[in-house]
Amino acid sequence: MDHKRVLLIVGGGIAAYKALELTRLLRKAGVAVRPVLTAAGAQFVTPLSLAALAEDKVYGDLFSLTDEAEMGHIELSRSADLVVVAPATADLMAKAAQGLAGDLASTTLLATDKPVLMAPAMNVRMWTHAATQRNFVTLKRDGVSFVGPDEGAMACGEYGPGRMAEPEAIFQAVMSALAPAPRPLVGRHAIVTAGPTVEAIDPVRMLTNRSSGKQGYAIAEALAALGAEVTLVSGPTALNAPPGVKRVQVESALEMLAASEAALPADIAVCVAAVADWRPVSAVERKMKKGRASPAPLTLVENPDILETLAKGARRPRLVIGFAAETHDVEAHAQAKLVRKGCDWIVANDVSLDGAMGGDANTVAIVKAGGIERWERMAKDEVARRLSQRIAEEIS
Ligand code: CTP
Repeated sequence: MDHKRVLLIVGGGIAAYKALELTRLLRKAGVAVRPVLTAAGAQFVTPLSLAALAEDKVYGDLFSLTDEAEMGHIELSRSADLVVVAPATADLMAKAAQGLAGDLASTTLLATDKPVLMAPAMNVRMWTHAATQRNFVTLKRDGVSFVGPDEGAMACGEYGPGRMAEPEAIFQAVMSALAPAPRPLVGRHAIVTAGPTVEAIDPVRMLTNRSSGKQGYAIAEALAALGAEVTLVSGPTALNAPPGVKRVQVESALEMLAASEAALPADIAVCVAAVADWRPVSAVERKMKKGRASPAPLTLVENPDILETLAKGARRPRLVIGFAAETHDVEAHAQAKLVRKGCDWIVANDVSLDGAMGGDANTVAIVKAGGIERWERMAKDEVARRLSQRIAEEIS
């Protein structure tokens, strides 16, 4: 890890003493540490201890950096490969979540273009407070990584989550953040379909389903993290496009098919969308009014199968993967679907289990012509990472 640089922001909390040990571990591993000590942080550790362990100057005052001879705060914020906040106090998290920039630490966090890793440390009530949890979610959404907090006895005498992770754990998180991530899918193009489709009945009514899009979005993000160029063809969802992913937003199955075919050629297609099986023969142009007669009949026609069309098309991606949401005989149905739709793998997904539809976890089995691989129940993000890893092994 020689030549790697960390900007270490030390906030004001009793856990600040652990930042000294973290600094020692990083220096021992050959990582340069440039410390920023907040005014509150300086109440817990002295600038002298931090400077001695970091073997660098300690920065603390925003306005001392305006001097031409000094490093400006913008430059400071970008002088490292990674910004680490340990302890990340409730106050620092709130400032960073809101984009406040009233002191050097918060200004640095707002000005940096480098990845940020936070190690929260605070009283259990402060950690579980709705405001902190809101900030935590916001920061994660903004791309900040977290290590901890741990659960345990606190300096204030209470017990629960909020204790800063141990220096060794933060050190490990820093080392993996600094290690260049392998990108085996560079140069590969993946199409991912996700979310529900919406089939118009008339200008105000529609047929749709409960798909949240979470699993498809997580797969798009995980493939992009491995270096793939990703086109995410998405039905309406409440989700933001993952970083680095090209999203094409569609409504109906016909639009989803057209957008998927327009995105070809591709090396990989992962069809996660919950495509409506049927659509009204034709959407009525004007709102249907209630009459005294019986309700208007809804005549449906079958939608094209996007997975099957891609798998059997002339420009077939090398690896075509479908999902199968099943409530019973999961694997037998998935095997049949594999053959019928002509794809290479089916990720069979048991939606009879709690929370699969719309929830954050999934229990899946990977069904291939050669056999079945059952995975334990795990977060959808983890399913996405493992599946992307398997895809990379298959493709490269
Ligand atoms: N799929 C698709 N286009 C459709 C229907 C489904 O691309 N019109 C894809 C889904 O994205 C998923 C797979 O096909 O990858 C399985 O879809 P599913 O709805 O579970 O299966 P069906 O083929 O509809 O079969 P059944 O309803 O009998 O379970």
